[in-house]
Amino acid sequence: MRIAVCTIAVTFAGTLALAEPSIERGQYLVEGPAGCGNCHTPFGAQGPDMTKNLAGCLVEETPAFTAIAPNLTLGGRVSEWSDAELARAIREGITPGGTRVIGPPMPIALYSQLSDDDVMSIVAYLRSIPAVENDAGQSVYNIPLPPAYGPPIDTVAHCVECHSPMGPMGPDRINQLGAGGFEFHGPWGTSVSANLTPHPEDGISKWTDEELVQMISTGVRPDGSAMMPPMGYAYYSSMTPADLDAIILYLRQLPPLADPC
Ligand code: HEC
Ligand code: HEC
Repeated sequence: MRIAVCTIAVTFAGTLALAEPSIERGQYLVEGPAGCGNCHTPFGAQGPDMTKNLAGCLVEETPAFTAIAPNLTLGGRVSEWSDAELARAIREGITPGGTRVIGPPMPIALYSQLSDDDVMSIVAYLRSIPAVENDAGQSVYNIPLPPAYGPPIDTVAHCVECHSPMGPMGPDRINQLGAGGFEFHGPWGTSVSANLTPHPEDGISKWTDEELVQMISTGVRPDGSAMMPPMGYAYYSSMTPADLDAIILYLRQLPPLADPC
């Protein structure tokens, strides 16, 4: 399996709801906890290429699928969709007219929990991004996609999309949730996602909450070493303390697992 120049993603913690949809709220979600750019923005050696923010990227190539996250700026086809159609695509994984189900690793189960205000805030923010011309291509799925997405699976946690080892059908979140061991190859070389379970030797038990907050939001470990891409700390740096706390709480209650071999 090869992971291409952008990455799979993400986290989304319980968020503080505002009363009205707003571009500011949408920007916070898209560029922060929802981490849309982790997949929809092309990557260079230093991380996301912000000159092409959200302009589409090859996310993942496996025997099961080639996943391409399309252009979400006004230069992409979503600019022709209505607000309601775009909201439905994000939250339910269905494209306009019910023509297509959006495939993995777009985290629909996660986004299906967005409130009406939050999803409309995301739509409003996407509409405010100037057009970037970029056609990353079209995904190919050799696995059957569900006819539709059912109810949500979990609440926080798309950190575990990267921090679980890859199986033939995607990250193995059933047996190895959060155990790390997912290899990423890119312009930075090879990085391997870390074990985020509370395993005493291999996991995060050795760190305090403060250390974890620092690691997640700055990409620097307590010993001063810097994390390689595609660890998404640039996105997480804008997260509220409450969202960071919710993530750490979530990680600390995962079943402890040793590193996958
Ligand atoms: C983990 C990777 C990942 C993340 C994170 C992600 N997406 Fe996606 N997204 C994809 C992939 C891959 C596709 C294409 C799937 C397909 O071809 O069926 C996609 C498709 C879409 C589509 C359909 C567009 C089209 O032209 O068909 C929309 C809209 C979309 N994503 C919006 C978002 C928004 C908004 C966010 C953040 C709230 C987001 N995505 C986060 C991977 C991701
Ligand atoms: C796009 C993939 C990706 C996502 C999403 C991601 N990570 Fe990471 N993470 C990595 C990789 C790869 C590394 C290892 C980097 C290295 O070795 O330099 C890493 C390293 C870490 C580390 C350092 C652990 C150690 O032992 O050194 C922590 C802590 C961490 N991630 C927490 C998180 C949390 C919490 C989230 C969700 C908010 C998250 N990560 C989301 C890929 C990801």
